[in-house]
Order: sequence, then C-alpha cells, then structure tokens
Amino acid sequence: MSFKVKRARDFVGKEATLEGWMYNRRGSGKIYFLQLRDGTGFMQGIVTEEDSGREAMALAEKLTAETSVRVTGLINQHPKHEDTFEMIVKKIEPIQIPPEEYPISKKEHGPDFLLDNRHLWLRSGKQWAIQRVRNTIINATYEYFADNDFIKIDAPILTPNACEGTTELFEINYFDEDTAYLSQSGQLYIEAAIMSHGRVFDFGPVFRAEKSKTRRHLTEFWMMDAEMAFCDHRMSMEIQEGLIMNILKRVLEKNLKELAILERDTEPLKKIKPPFIRKTHAEVVAELRTMGSDIGERDDLGGDDETMLTQKYDLPIFVEKYPAEVKAFYMKRDPENETLCLNNDLLAPEGYGEIIGGSQREDDFDTLFKRIKNHGLDTKVFNWYLDLRKYGSVPHSGFGYGLERITGWLTGIHHIRETIPFPRLINRLRP
Ligand code: 4AD
Ligand code: MG
Repeated sequence: MSFKVKRARDFVGKEATLEGWMYNRRGSGKIYFLQLRDGTGFMQGIVTEEDSGREAMALAEKLTAETSVRVTGLINQHPKHEDTFEMIVKKIEPIQIPPEEYPISKKEHGPDFLLDNRHLWLRSGKQWAIQRVRNTIINATYEYFADNDFIKIDAPILTPNACEGTTELFEINYFDEDTAYLSQSGQLYIEAAIMSHGRVFDFGPVFRAEKSKTRRHLTEFWMMDAEMAFCDHRMSMEIQEGLIMNILKRVLEKNLKELAILERDTEPLKKIKPPFIRKTHAEVVAELRTMGSDIGERDDLGGDDETMLTQKYDLPIFVEKYPAEVKAFYMKRDPENETLCLNNDLLAPEGYGEIIGGSQREDDFDTLFKRIKNHGLDTKVFNWYLDLRKYGSVPHSGFGYGLERITGWLTGIHHIRETIPFPRLINRLRP
C-alpha cells in the first residue's frame, strides 16, 4: 500500500515513503522541520542527526522551498492533535531542487502578483483547500443527478446563436459561416435532449463578454444547466433545493479540514435546512426599498441589492417572478400576471447573492416565435429550437448554477477569481 498523507493513520508506527514537495522548512543546526505536501494533505518531517543520520541532515540543510522530494521515515501520531501525523525522517531523496528562490514566500503578496503567479499560487494551502471544496461540489452535483434519474448531456461550446443576452457574446470567425459564438449556457441544447431522456444536465465552461468588473463575474466560468420535462416552476425549485442540500451535506462531510484551513466559519452552513426562503421579486423590491435601495419596481436586482438582502437571512432565498423585460426570451410568463416570468434566482446567504438562475420555459410555438421576434433575435437561427415546440412539446423547466459562485459561498472567499484554477477576467487572460 503506497503511502499518502490522507491515509497516514493506517501507517502509524510503520516506515513509509512520501512523494511530494517540501514547501517550507523550519529549524536550524540540530533539528529541521520539513513542511511536506503530497497532494492529499500536509505533514511535517522531523530531521535530527540522531534519528536521520548525517546524510539526511546535510540534505535537510540544503533543501529550498518547493523542492520535490521522496522522504522516507517512521510515521507518528502528533502527541497533542489526534488528526495530525508527522514523520521521523530516515532518508531524503531530492528529485529537483529549485535553482532560485521560490517567488511566493510567506510574506504578504498583493492580488496582482499572486494572480500573475497563479500557476504557482495554486500550491498554497488556501488555494489547495478551495480546489478540494470545488471538487466536492462537482462530485455532489453528479451524485445528486445520478440519484434522481438525470443523465449528462454535453452541450456544444461553438454555437450560431445567443442563449442569454446578445451583448455578452464572444465572437469568432467560423469558416464559411462567418461568425460563431462561444456558448453562454448549454440550456437551449439540453432542452432538445429532455424530449429524448426526460431529465438531463450539462456541465462545462461558458463564456460571457459582459464588461462586469465585480467580485461575482468571470468571462469564462463553469456552469451546470439542468432541464426537466413535465416539470413546472415550483417543482424545479424543489430540485434546486435538493441539489444545493446535497452539495452542502457533502462539503460538510468531506471538507472540514479544508474549511478550517480557509478559516471558514461552518456554523452558518450547518444551520441551513430546507425549505429555503421563497419571496417574489415584488416583495423583495419593497423590502429592499425599506432598507435604503433605490431599486425600481421593474428593475433587476443589482449586486449591492443582492448583498444587502442576503446578509439579512440565514437561509438561501428563492426570488421568483421577475419582470419579463429583465429576463431572457425563453421564459414562460406567469398566467396570473403576463408581465412577469415563471422564473427564479436563488441567492446564497451571507452576502453571496445569485448562485442559480432558472425558469419554466415557454412551450407554445406561437408564443415563443413572437417572443424571439420581440427580443430582436433572428427567428431563422432558432428554427431548431422552435421545432421542440412543434413535435411533442411538454411543460418543462430548468436552471443553471455557477460553480465558482457556489464555491465562493461555501469556502467564504470574497472574490470568485480564487475559486477557478485559472481565472479569466476582462483584464486578465494570463497565465
Ligand atoms: O443566470 P444565468 O445567466 O442563467 C442562464 O444562463 C440560464 N440559461 C441557466 C439555465 O436556466 N439553464 O447564469 C446561471 C448562473 C448564475 O446564477 C450565476 O451563478 C452564474 O451562472 N453566472 C456567472 N458566474 C460567474 N461569472 C459570470 N459572469 C456569471 N454569469 C452568471
Ligand atoms: Mg442570472
């Protein structure tokens, strides 16, 4: 059985070899503490001449930060911390010793320096922890859908049409077609797939060319879209709630160590139980105005509105029935008030704001045709999408989440640029 820090408990009292990196070293002269990392976790290696021998001592003295190494020694449980293990080093085999000082030191660095060095910054403890949480969210998403009769359908990234707003598109040259666009959401394509599979989801990178420079916006991010046949707006919100609860449960089960590294207070997360809060857009607008917002009755919620509102409640908030003019063409209207959509955003608490956008879809051919036209879009490009309303149309709904928004919320990270391995922002394309 090969040794991994994560499984150190099984190796207590035994000799084992760790393959990884020495990210730091403390001590001098008589004793060295090597801070080791192997991908699965962190561990300290203790080097003394008495236990480790003269050769290991000489090497320990020479190693510089981020040396890749193979270190062999005896695994011990920390005398005070039950969950911490250390190694009495017997042998050190450097694999590559950096010829220069590692650029990221323990001192404070500004965000630009760190983002320029993102390829190295990813190794630091907090960044390691964020990616582990992100990974749990991905796995919990697949798990929830597999358990609830969804299958994954991969939507294309190169598309001839806009899904959300037309001003947010990245254009590229596409042979004889002249222009193609990078997908903003796979939604329209997975709507086609529900007529074959009933319940489907996609998960992949999407692109938004909007000029938003906020802590919530990336130009490339990972979106999960889900779509369900024979499902109305209310049923869709229940699925959203179930999905978010499964993600929360798994993160609290699997990532307590990571959340501790991130100094994320887990109490607010543990308190979340269904049902989430449900409010209409009109109710929220009235409430925001009493809180000092200047939001108009038919305005979309601004970033500050979302922050203010979600700081007030402990639970995620479904905001339903937005004015149709601030939402996309495909949303079904509320039969009780045709100027509103049968839609919802889901806002995360503690100031995080929108993590999901969803709606029931317009399933009537003529109505949808009219909407596409009224939105100033070319109906020809949407012929295939309109076909779905011609051959066996059914009431259906769906929603999409932003992986980085959810990761930001659960890890307690302020700016979502830290939640994606290589962030793309309007002013950043490197590394
Ligand atoms: O609300 P959005 O724009 O909804 C859609 O694209 C629908 N087609 C989804 C659907 O119904 N299948 O985006 C969905 C989610 C948002 O709630 C937010 O979490 C995230 O994607 N998001 C962004 N995340 C990072 N950067 C951006 N620029 C984002 N724009 C949206
Ligand atoms: Mg939205």
